[in-house]
Amino acid sequence: MKLAVLKVGGASAAGAADAVRGLQHVCVVHGAGPQISAEMQRRGLPVEFVGGRRVTTATGLEVVRESFAAVNAELCAAIPGAVGLMGDEIGLPATQVPELGLVGDPLPSAPQAVLDVLAVGCVPVVAPLAAGPLNVNADEMAAALAVGLGADRISFLTDVPGLLYGRGRDPAEAARGRDRRAARSPHGDRRDGGDRVSTVATQAVLPTYARQDLTIVRGSGCWVESAYGNRFLDLVGGIAVIGLGHGHPAPLSAAQEQLQKLWHASNLYWTEPMQALSVSVSSRFGGARSFFCNSGAEAIEAAIKWARKTTGRPGIVALEGSFHGRTLGALSITGQPAKRAAFEPLIPAVSFARLNDVDSLVVDETTAAIVIEPIQGEGGVHPATPEFLAAARELADEHGALLIFDEVQTGVGRTGSFFAFEQLGVKPDAVTLAKSLANGLPIGCLVVSDDAPQGLEPGDHASTFGGNPVVCAAACAVVDAITDELLANVHAREAQLRAAFPTLRGRGLLLALDVDRPAGEIVNACRERGVLVCTAGERTIRLTPPLVITEEEIEIAIATLREVLQ
Ligand SMILES: Cc1ncc(COP(=O)(O)O)c(C=O)c1O
Repeated sequence: MKLAVLKVGGASAAGAADAVRGLQHVCVVHGAGPQISAEMQRRGLPVEFVGGRRVTTATGLEVVRESFAAVNAELCAAIPGAVGLMGDEIGLPATQVPELGLVGDPLPSAPQAVLDVLAVGCVPVVAPLAAGPLNVNADEMAAALAVGLGADRISFLTDVPGLLYGRGRDPAEAARGRDRRAARSPHGDRRDGGDRVSTVATQAVLPTYARQDLTIVRGSGCWVESAYGNRFLDLVGGIAVIGLGHGHPAPLSAAQEQLQKLWHASNLYWTEPMQALSVSVSSRFGGARSFFCNSGAEAIEAAIKWARKTTGRPGIVALEGSFHGRTLGALSITGQPAKRAAFEPLIPAVSFARLNDVDSLVVDETTAAIVIEPIQGEGGVHPATPEFLAAARELADEHGALLIFDEVQTGVGRTGSFFAFEQLGVKPDAVTLAKSLANGLPIGCLVVSDDAPQGLEPGDHASTFGGNPVVCAAACAVVDAITDELLANVHAREAQLRAAFPTLRGRGLLLALDVDRPAGEIVNACRERGVLVCTAGERTIRLTPPLVITEEEIEIAIATLREVLQ
């Protein structure tokens, strides 16, 4: 018997009768995705998909069953000789996927009820519930039945791409293993249109970010995977955070070991990882003491307080176009009016000079500190020149002010040396670090040179989570991993990118390219081709990949960017 399995999806019920008419032996499987989502929304139930499969609660399952029954009845009315079958009632087998609730991964089967209907020349129309009952994705159910029944063909009649649509007509191929979702053609998911995140899944989050429609569920090295199983080459690296690549074994095992021992103790006590990290950072700096916190902005807050307390002066000289964070203090010294405007008044006594314009640096006896990013990252990847930094050093010394480099983005190997200042011939009094210091665990750090004046005393500043032992254990492993070999890779990959794009700005693997159209368009086009990049301004693309990125991976990046930019 030549048997075809026909998966009917979307609004294709009417076409199902025609399709079935042309086939001798056919088993129809259908879903009810749009109907289920609509009814869930009407009842105020969450609509959530993971890997293209619907998360299903007990209440959700009632909606699923009712919707399946309605679609099943509609199809049976349209298809001559159809016999409606609810999968759980005929004992379709599946293994539960507990993380998705009442959802099943179907097993190949040849249910007697289906065989009986086929034997009398009728058309089984199967709703994809499995014994349990469990909700099963209809594409997967169709594939499992096709394999179990020994069908020689599986067809998809649908106006929406599904989990297996486009996988060919071979049942075994369609049903192959659990990696079938990963192997599915990119961006071809049902209902949510590829990697799109449903409105319901996002509406409980305050809208402070213009997020892309992509949920990232795992990462390894320079690659991340979406909830829909699509893989992306990650040239963003959490915006210069994942220096060692996703899931790097050294910080991973350090953090895991520490998790077994102690998660938190408070800064009322010492912890070993925090002490060890302070020593590591000090030796990289050449003699310094650290204050640990949880983010770049907090490190900047600590720096401002240190400078004010140490000098007894209020003033900060910062730069136009700079970015130091979103807390009120950090925002106050951020030279981007658009980010500040809604939050005025900010802290007083802040003035802004122009990057690389020595004449605009006005420092006097009210100045506590000059704060400079060695390369303005968020502001468009604009490097400070050694001459400008030397002039800032000189002015600070002349007027008794402090020189602080914000290395939140440039630090920890990003530009090809542990600190960016090492390549610039100017040593600051203090440095802020964050981002990649713990390869993705939250950390910030104010590093004050042993040669600088020390103004902070017990009670001046604090952070409950600052110096957290798990994070510091990971950070120690990160610092140890910033080896000469890794830094050589940073330079080599930079050279490789520069050879392809001579107009690149920046240093090491903090690079930017000006483009001839809105940068968001480039970001989207790259993402559609499986490569993640981010922006640094309206018409600037920023590349901050993991420092471990390989020559081959950079070749993929170059090819994609070339294609998109042409
Ligand atoms: C140079 C610089 N400073 C400070 C910050 C703020 O860091 P966070 O977002 O961790 O508060 C950033 C963030 O991008 C930064 O690039």
